[in-house]
Amino acid sequence: QDDLKRAVAAAALDDIDALLTPDAVIGVGTGSTANHFIDLLATRRQDFRGAVASSEATAERLKSHGIDVLELNHVGTVPVYIDGADEIDRQLRMIKGGGAALTREKIVAACAERFICIADASKSVETLGGFPLPVEVIPMARSYVAREMVKLGITPVYRDGVLTDNGNRILDGYDKLFDDPEGMETTLDGIVGVVTNGLFARRPADVLLLGGDSGVTRFT
Ligand code: A5P
Repeated sequence: QDDLKRAVAAAALDDIDALLTPDAVIGVGTGSTANHFIDLLATRRQDFRGAVASSEATAERLKSHGIDVLELNHVGTVPVYIDGADEIDRQLRMIKGGGAALTREKIVAACAERFICIADASKSVETLGGFPLPVEVIPMARSYVAREMVKLGITPVYRDGVLTDNGNRILDGYDKLFDDPEGMETTLDGIVGVVTNGLFARRPADVLLLGGDSGVTRFT
């Protein structure tokens, strides 16, 4: 599986070749697949300006390779955002946040002209929801949000010991398949105390590079 992750990361670097220009700032995601991409991007670090990171961990890895990490507020928009996913469906809607970085990931994705998802074939699903849905909550709202999730048919489990980069907590939502991911994304965002939920349906990926036994397939 690690080989597949590396293969899709390499495919992503090929995919963005034309975007690597001296002024370009690249949006970079979080997780083991994104880490492969960072390591490969480093081989081209003379060819672009820098990167915007979707987590502290990604910022550290980028810096360790000598890649400049810029603040999103100073950059505005990025031409492309490359990130993994925990699940992705045929319409390129995703569940993300297994690594607790969902809020910053969603912010960078919102500022990206193109979102390229890189994933191994195990992430491809018919219907989202097999992977527990991460919901980032303001700490004092944890219990309230959990009760509201139950009303929506979702079983919340507190991710004990995890504090997000934003100082918040994570509830993982089990036992629900999402036949209307856009609607559920909006509903969950409407609960007071929810910072972000891990459904990336209203802003799906534009491109999926999916790694399987027969190589990398590109979906749009
Ligand atoms: C991080 O919070 C997640 O959204 C990751 O993008 C996701 O968990 C994918 O991670 P892997 O590439 O490690 O599977």
